[in-house]
Amino acid sequence: SGSISVAELAEKLNKKTNEIIKKLMFSGVMATKNQDLDEDALELICSEFGVEVEQEIEIDKADLATYIDEDDPNKLEERPPVVTIMGHVDHGKTTLLDSIRHTKVTAGEAGGITQHIGAYQVRENDKKVTFLDTPGHAAFTSMRSRGAQVTDIAILVVAADDGVMPQTIEAINHAKAAEVPIIIAVNKMDKEGANPDRVMQELTEYELIPEDWGGDTIFVQLSAIKREGIDDLLEMILLVAEVEELKANADRRANGTVIEAQLDKGRGPVASLLVQNGTLKVGDPIVVGNTFGRVRAMVNDLGKRINSAGPSTPIEITGLNDVPLAGDQFVVFKDEKQARQIGEMRQEKQLEEKRGTQSRVSLDDLFEQI
Ligand code: GTP
Ligand code: MG
Repeated sequence: SGSISVAELAEKLNKKTNEIIKKLMFSGVMATKNQDLDEDALELICSEFGVEVEQEIEIDKADLATYIDEDDPNKLEERPPVVTIMGHVDHGKTTLLDSIRHTKVTAGEAGGITQHIGAYQVRENDKKVTFLDTPGHAAFTSMRSRGAQVTDIAILVVAADDGVMPQTIEAINHAKAAEVPIIIAVNKMDKEGANPDRVMQELTEYELIPEDWGGDTIFVQLSAIKREGIDDLLEMILLVAEVEELKANADRRANGTVIEAQLDKGRGPVASLLVQNGTLKVGDPIVVGNTFGRVRAMVNDLGKRINSAGPSTPIEITGLNDVPLAGDQFVVFKDEKQARQIGEMRQEKQLEEKRGTQSRVSLDDLFEQI
């Protein structure tokens, strides 16, 4: 795969190279003219400058959103928080996800984890927490570029022996842009050089100030590898979730977002979805991005077949006519005819746009180059 440099992007966006470098600097990314941009930096710049890009996203988003009826406030009930883990390379994101899953899921549930659906749920004190299992910042970049917001709470992992690093700062910027609360997980506390005070000190620069120092940011010290501090972290997540008053109405047709999707040789298009509102049921007529179908089968994060899934539940479905994209919205319709009509309309529109907008800069075009 190729790449795109600061200068090349500037040309594409019809901006001065210096403007791009300045924007990047304000976001904590130091770049030179000929430096290649990663996907995160690219998304950042596009959302800063990309009028065209944003307009496209708005239209696309509005399209499906217009089919979602407004909620009756009396029917709203508490729902589990959806949590994303972010942080610098090697600071322990994967280890933390694994240790949460293994202490909280495998122990109690027969069979353990049998398949990967990009998200999973754990239970703590009779409450559920949903974790997005997407690597790094993907949950914020590719999803937000499609106008989707799935994360309620961001966990920022910072290694206690390494401190704040470039991708730590990127993660902070993403979480702030998405306006989600940040919990700091000071990891690797078992290591000899662990210095949590330094981590706290460094993060004050980004307005992440611990309660002890007069701020309101929650810091949890843990060792992902030794599985220490996991309960504290989950408790804090539930505390923050309570303050956020996360609500949904289980008693309605479902809508939500695609976490990941692929073509399975035997089963056809398979999509991992996060139900964000309502209850998704087997048999439901559904439009997913520019694809459609009927929910043929549904499995949960333990690989167990289920017939329905409520708010904040990650599941995998089959029955779509094509493979949707991560970050696509899905909406359930009353009948199959309507789902088909709207799905086909969207498919056609997508084809038209592809033909008609070759010369325009879109996020997808840019991403294809990297
Ligand atoms: P990327 O996915 O590459 O960004 O890394 P990551 O953030 O997922 O880090 P990962 O979980 O792969 O951990 C990186 C290294 O740190 C591995 O060798 C882990 O074993 C180690 N590690 C993670 N957590 C801890 C911890 O709590 N203590 C110690 N001592 N090592 C840890
Ligand atoms: Mg990892």
